[in-house]
Amino acid sequence: MSKITAAITAVGGYVPEYVLTNQILETLVETNDEWITTRTGIKERRILKEDGKGTSYLAINAAKDLLNKSGVDPKEIDLVIVATATPDMKAAATASYTATEIGAINAFAFDLEAACSSFLFGMSVAARYIESGKYKKVLLIGADKNSSMINYKDRATCIIFGDGAGAALFEPNLEGFGLQDELLRSDGNGREFLQATYGGSSYPITPEAIAEGKHYIFQEGKMVFKNAVFNMADITEKILVRNNITNDDIAWLVPHQANKRIIDATASRIDLDESKVMMNIERYGNTTSATLPLLLFDYEKQLKKGDKLIFAAFGGGFTWGSIYLTWAYNS
Ligand code: UT7
Repeated sequence: MSKITAAITAVGGYVPEYVLTNQILETLVETNDEWITTRTGIKERRILKEDGKGTSYLAINAAKDLLNKSGVDPKEIDLVIVATATPDMKAAATASYTATEIGAINAFAFDLEAACSSFLFGMSVAARYIESGKYKKVLLIGADKNSSMINYKDRATCIIFGDGAGAALFEPNLEGFGLQDELLRSDGNGREFLQATYGGSSYPITPEAIAEGKHYIFQEGKMVFKNAVFNMADITEKILVRNNITNDDIAWLVPHQANKRIIDATASRIDLDESKVMMNIERYGNTTSATLPLLLFDYEKQLKKGDKLIFAAFGGGFTWGSIYLTWAYNS
């Protein structure tokens, strides 16, 4: 019997309507379009404004887009994973609510949190379920409502992050397409440089913490940047060497969208032409768990069966990694 590989067979995406431009940010903090564009590559981001709508709203819309396009019956889905750093609520999994709302009534569901590497690590988890032979349809959604933890008076973070969601369906493949190899890493020493300190179990939320803005996300941008550049480039190079892949073989680099300079550094390390680098940071900013699937959503029509894709991500925690996947279908 042929070996089962885990292939992506459909993608979907969703971003909210409201566009937060660099020009609007100029009215909120001391910054300017030129600084943001040259330092990050970002021009605008999408923000979910409506009260009472959380990450599940984004995830549900991305999943519905995938289901509508592919015609997949949600009742056939075995597992729904929501990769997110901004779950709707504590304790109740965002994935469970999402699964129910999209009609995946026969699925089990859970959230997966690894900051900006959540979707990448989720790809590994989704693949293991499929490769086991026991599960036939795993829906992996990367979704984040980053605006829920942003202080729009902090120019170190508010210029970077946006809201959005992307979804990918994993199914068994008997032709060898799909996830081929992965290198995943973490280093807990990095958590001091990027975190929302209050609101978790170490430091439950208090009126004092709120007054001081300690429930918002904070980052030491330079430290995160330095580590992201080194580790994302390094692990991407390692996965190429391990699989004997040259830059000529690569159809697309699919890099986490945190800062265009981090993406450029990764591409330059493996000497990859920018025409092979997926990029949408200009329009969405850093959507955390949603960047990778939103790239697939935006570039789906350009992907061909057999294309070699190299995914790479770096995020808070620290967490990072690279995945080598071959594309399984023509649109
Ligand atoms: O997804 C994973 C998580 N996040 C990341 O990967 C983000 C990684 N970090 C970054 O992308 C960058 O560090 C930032 C975009 C956050 C900051 O860029 P930078 O080139 O590292 O700037 P910096 O913090 O070193 O600041 C340089 C200068 C400073 O002024 P002085 O001290 O040189 O006079 C800052 O005060 O730029 C100033 N600055 C700004 N100026 C205008 C910092 N933020 C801004 C701003 N607008 N928004």
